[in-house]
Amino acid sequence: MTPRAITIRLAEPRDAQAIAMMSRDFIEAGLGWKYDASRVMRAIRDRETLAVVACDAKPGAATRAAVNGFAIIEFGDERAHLVLLAVRPSHRRTGIGQRMLEWLVESARCAGIASIHLELRAGNEAARRFYRAMGFYETVLVPGYYRSGEGRKEGALRMLRVLRVPGPLPAAWRPPRLEDR
Ligand SMILES: CC(C)(COP(=O)(O)OP(=O)(O)OC[C@H]1O[C@@H](n2cnc3c(N)ncnc32)[C@H](O)[C@@H]1OP(=O)(O)O)[C@@H](O)C(=O)NCCC(=O)NCCS
Repeated sequence: MTPRAITIRLAEPRDAQAIAMMSRDFIEAGLGWKYDASRVMRAIRDRETLAVVACDAKPGAATRAAVNGFAIIEFGDERAHLVLLAVRPSHRRTGIGQRMLEWLVESARCAGIASIHLELRAGNEAARRFYRAMGFYETVLVPGYYRSGEGRKEGALRMLRVLRVPGPLPAAWRPPRLEDR
């Protein structure tokens, strides 16, 4: 599988079930399942939230493409919160996570966002390395942040990527143009 065979697009309501299953199996395992299909559907429809999926096929192909990765980010005025991001194990280390994240970072820049924040399970070394490679740095360890249905607690690591100096945007600010990259 090469990264070129993958299309990143906005999530649609028909993707909600596949996204929810991936969240349950690859992110929320052992913590209880919060992002079920109805919650994912709300995220897809929320105007302040961006949900993207990574699919095998090109857009417009006749057959429905399998969803092999997804990400959900919530936008505030200056801060964005990367809520969930996962890639199917069969498709990892092929650049899909990176491509989805670049998509979201570019969207955040265009929206004038100053920083992207996220939490991950403290023991999730793969994700920690991934986010470090993507320009995030660790800010704080929060003990007991995650709680499973059985009352088990797990620490969270907060990470941050700065996109611009916080504060009001200069009057001359314009969204970046793709051809400038
Ligand atoms: C973390 C995750 C999203 C990474 O997705 P991915 O598509 O495999 O990542 P990419 O292929 O884009 O990797 C980009 C770079 O990140 C780093 N990286 C990614 N996974 C890594 C790992 N397991 N170990 C070390 N470095 C890793 C590498 O530098 C990699 O570049 P390289 O492959 O050229 O060395 C994926 O492992 C996953 O879905 N994990 C389970 C869900 C999860 O933990 N999500 C994050 C918390 S919400």
